[in-house]
Amino acid sequence: MEKIKVAVLGATGMVGQYFLHLLNDHPCFQVVAVCASDARIAQPLGEVKSLHPAGIPEDMAHLALMGLDAGTLAGAGVQIVFSGLPADIARGIEMELAQRGIHVFSNASAWRMDPLVPILIPEINSAHLALVQQQLQQRRGFIITNANCTTTGLALSLLPLLPLGIRRLIIASYQAVSGAGYPGIPALDISGNIIPFIDGEEPKVRKECGKIFARIGASGLEPAEWQVHAHCIRVPTLVGHLVSTHVELAEAVTLEKITALFRDFEMPADVAGLPTAPAKPILMASEKNRPQPVRDADAGGPGRTAGMAVTVGRLEVDGNIVRFVNLANNLVRGAAGGSVLNAELCLRVGLIKGGAI
Ligand SMILES: NC(=O)c1ccc[n+]([C@@H]2O[C@H](COP(=O)([O-])OP(=O)(O)OC[C@H]3O[C@@H](n4cnc5c(N)ncnc54)[C@H](OP(=O)(O)O)[C@@H]3O)[C@@H](O)[C@H]2O)c1
Repeated sequence: MEKIKVAVLGATGMVGQYFLHLLNDHPCFQVVAVCASDARIAQPLGEVKSLHPAGIPEDMAHLALMGLDAGTLAGAGVQIVFSGLPADIARGIEMELAQRGIHVFSNASAWRMDPLVPILIPEINSAHLALVQQQLQQRRGFIITNANCTTTGLALSLLPLLPLGIRRLIIASYQAVSGAGYPGIPALDISGNIIPFIDGEEPKVRKECGKIFARIGASGLEPAEWQVHAHCIRVPTLVGHLVSTHVELAEAVTLEKITALFRDFEMPADVAGLPTAPAKPILMASEKNRPQPVRDADAGGPGRTAGMAVTVGRLEVDGNIVRFVNLANNLVRGAAGGSVLNAELCLRVGLIKGGAI
């Protein structure tokens, strides 16, 4: 099958460069255009400072950076854009691209809370793709967003508990510096330090949890009505957001039952086998002092699925309270990998034309 032409917006940034890596040699997608700010126009991608351990993919080094020009992207036959833009920049261009018939998979928060835009995590809410059909009645392309990088790992780790009736969440996140992009937080502020505030993060966790677990009702999404209490904290780790999670359930449970639910949780059939889907979306840490960002941020591998699984550890039960720690790779599962998986799912269900997957 001929590969689908895609572009990466924000290709020089933290998330953008993880997109390049995940899209390199992808079986269905081919990067034909890379965009950044106007100051970069015509700069070869190969000259950009590398923010990924594997560097800028060699096959893409010759691509010249473009500005955000929807007309040029449409003219180049781009069918999909993967966006790693700041939210204020994303808002206008993402909608313009969708109006021109280019499908947008975005990490920016700009459109996340729009009633017709899903916050898609395929294992949880692939049914929310029904909203995309409604978007397509208004414009030729659609927008699908990822959750915030902290919410993604948290939401996935809640999935096995869903049938038990979640009432309340109390979480504290320990978020890596790469979550703030590049150059991000000044070294003098974060080295040997912890910053107990990340602007806008806690309301995002609250609102996005409700929307991700929403039911589809007659008049649109009906958000889950759990109480969510979140403290989001920046710590001097590099990659991987760790979340200490307390879940209040409807009824008392046993540790054996909860352990079995996590251990036996399988990838849903509609997602299994996609190129960026890990074999299991949730892994149980084998040792008491895990998960750790340095050791577990790449869980889910080998190959392009590395960093796509969430690791859960420190599991404890006290009556109807379940406590655990989860870790997700903020740049892969919480950003670029999540978007690529979303696009693969859309290809599989026929929302994107281009062949079987
Ligand atoms: N980092 C994470 O873990 C993470 C996780 C989930 C979601 N996100 C979200 O993903 C997005 C990108 O985050 P990031 O961490 O990759 O940020 P970043 O490292 O600061 O990268 C930002 C990118 O946007 C480009 N850009 C900035 N202003 C622009 C403009 N006026 N026109 C065109 N391009 C412009 C930059 O290009 P130049 O190099 O030319 O400035 C760069 O490529 C944000 O919305 C963020 O909230 C981040």
